[in-house]
Amino acid sequence: MRLTQRTILLGVCGGIAAYKSALLARALIRAGGSVRVAMTASAQRFITPLTFEALTEQACLTDEDLFHTGGGVSHVEIARTSDLILIAPATATTLARLAGGFADNLLSAVVLASRAPVLVVPSMHTAMWESLPVQRNLGLLDPDRYRMLLPESGALASGDSGPGRFPEVDDIVDAATAALAPQDLAGRSVVVTAGPTREPLDPVRVLTNPSSGRMGIELARAAQIRGARVHLILGPTHLAPPRPLAPDRMVVTRVVTTDDMLRATRAAIADADTLIMAAAPADERPASPVASKIRKEALPATLAMEHTPDILKTLRPELAGRVVVGFAAETTDIETSGRRKLESKGLDLLFANPVDGGRGFGAETNQGVLLARDGSRLDVPPQSKSALADLILERVARLPADR
Ligand SMILES: Cc1cc2nc3c(=O)[nH]c(=O)nc-3n(C[C@H](O)[C@H](O)[C@H](O)COP(=O)(O)O)c2cc1C
Repeated sequence: MRLTQRTILLGVCGGIAAYKSALLARALIRAGGSVRVAMTASAQRFITPLTFEALTEQACLTDEDLFHTGGGVSHVEIARTSDLILIAPATATTLARLAGGFADNLLSAVVLASRAPVLVVPSMHTAMWESLPVQRNLGLLDPDRYRMLLPESGALASGDSGPGRFPEVDDIVDAATAALAPQDLAGRSVVVTAGPTREPLDPVRVLTNPSSGRMGIELARAAQIRGARVHLILGPTHLAPPRPLAPDRMVVTRVVTTDDMLRATRAAIADADTLIMAAAPADERPASPVASKIRKEALPATLAMEHTPDILKTLRPELAGRVVVGFAAETTDIETSGRRKLESKGLDLLFANPVDGGRGFGAETNQGVLLARDGSRLDVPPQSKSALADLILERVARLPADR
């Protein structure tokens, strides 16, 4: 619930993506936000205020409210009570209004009357997006106050393809969260490993484990939201990694085997100050994998196995000066084994969690104990992996890297 106790004014303009703002309003509410919607006159030709009123359980604001004489809500009052103004979709016309300092409709008047951060999500046809006036207007917006979530490239409503698409709703929620979150990892460069690895026996059979990668993906998402540049090294999973909120803020390297993960992590830590190892790499592999499928009748009853490299142990000499966070999935003696692992591997923080009875691996929630190098401990009751990611990163932010 990253937006709990935050009031967001969602400005909806007259773009073809206006209908997607209804899903965005729902997603913001699901993230804990209190959402009020302000629609431009053009937006109401695409979707009605009633839709937003039903979703937000609040009156939808229109230009009638700006020019109301009977004691309606004033634009100054709306400005004062909004923590974030999120304009999505933002049309070319509204961008021109913002750049020119116009206050000729409710939304632009509130923007001018407020000092809250503004997150702009432009969406339009590629030719409009790339046009000189639109790009010039974007350049006129004060970067200290206005944040931009750039449009995606892909199929457009017109049938053309190119930059201009409205981003995925979850990415807009991440960007809204980032606009309000403490930027205590700004300037930091964080590598996160996530997911299982797969060790092949032949082209159709693998040794793996049920890790979904969710914990690492949530850590990568939360680190980006707190201002870090993130490199996510992700094993095979059906879960989608977070999108970059700005160019180069989230790099994702996909890997399959533990050897691949080791190589990718080694390359990534060269320019990082923090390594968070949330992956569950397979620690054994078939000793003699083969390139063509073994016929069923020829399958051996027992398999010869060998250990895969221990990523942390192998990279330890290269990690000097970096903050290193590990995870320990245990079924018994969770805290004792966790403490032993923290010390033997020279970690700064370790989250030890039980993985019996469906807990931990693949689950939506996690629980356990967070152990620190200074000997402190924190019991973590069951909570979503995104809440746990925030809790861990708050600690990471307090551990400055000395490199
Ligand atoms: C069918 C249709 C789709 C449109 N889609 C967009 C769009 O995606 N992006 C955009 O900037 N303008 C789009 N426009 C143009 C805007 O509706 C128009 O510029 C309007 O003045 C925007 O006003 P507003 O910014 O006050 O909402 C579209 C117009 C029509 C008729």
